[in-house]
Amino acid sequence: MKIFISGVSSGLGYGLAKVYLAMGYEVYGCSRRKPKDLVDQGLHFAAIDLADSMAGPSNFCKLINGVLHFDLVILNAGKLGQIRDMEEASLGDLRETMEINVWSNKWLLDCLFADERSVEQVVAISSGASQSGSRGWNGYSLSKSALNMLIKLYAGERSQTHFTSLAPGLIDTAMQDYLTSLPQDPRYKPLDILKAAKGTEIMPDGETCARRLIEVFPKLLQIESGDYVDIRKL
Ligand SMILES: NC(=O)c1ccc[n+]([C@@H]2O[C@H](COP(=O)([O-])OP(=O)(O)OC[C@H]3O[C@@H](n4cnc5c(N)ncnc54)[C@H](OP(=O)(O)O)[C@@H]3O)[C@@H](O)[C@H]2O)c1
Repeated sequence: MKIFISGVSSGLGYGLAKVYLAMGYEVYGCSRRKPKDLVDQGLHFAAIDLADSMAGPSNFCKLINGVLHFDLVILNAGKLGQIRDMEEASLGDLRETMEINVWSNKWLLDCLFADERSVEQVVAISSGASQSGSRGWNGYSLSKSALNMLIKLYAGERSQTHFTSLAPGLIDTAMQDYLTSLPQDPRYKPLDILKAAKGTEIMPDGETCARRLIEVFPKLLQIESGDYVDIRKL
């Protein structure tokens, strides 16, 4: 079984790569930082900055050159950005968030489908923020809702591949370290919920969440290709 995962250096992507490698899968992954322990365990890795649409695509195509089929592609890498009001968010920062969370997934998918390579299933890691539009979640909400539509559009073009945008629930990763370290602020209401969830079972660590998702991925094939689902509602 061959799998590609973006964002393998930390959090959920690291957990997914670690568990799949332990299961004996052939795992390909990218991120800017190198997860040395996973590379030592056989991860096929390339250091790629997903914000760099000039050099990124050719480096990614080199990584997967010679692979004819992927059983599963997990578009996991993502940038949260800072929690603040829209008017305080710079266009440069919003553009970079879109570049990483949306447009890189376009060129990753285009490289994956090049050279008549086939892909059985694509899961894009989305977020409840793609639906909620909570104050302060500016570029992250915008980008995750655009990601859901990107996945739906690819699903309409590629009937041989099953696509899902999946909100994975809360995960205790670097993103949550940042969110839960912010001071309480009545403008940004979800912060209270996140602070209360940290350290409890509703915010598992990356590896625990990865194990749950690995059980869920085959079940996603039962829902319509291109749909968005929240793991908490399955
Ligand atoms: N944590 C949560 O509660 C939560 C909830 C809902 C959805 N999600 C989603 O879950 C996914 C994983 O997030 P996480 O919580 O595991 O966060 P994380 O620990 O911050 O991991 C993010 C991963 O994305 C990679 N990445 C970020 N920017 C990149 C760039 N420019 N180029 C290449 N790789 C880049 C990082 O690698 P490098 O820094 O090494 O490049 C890292 O491996 C994201 O899509 C996130 O939106 C998380």
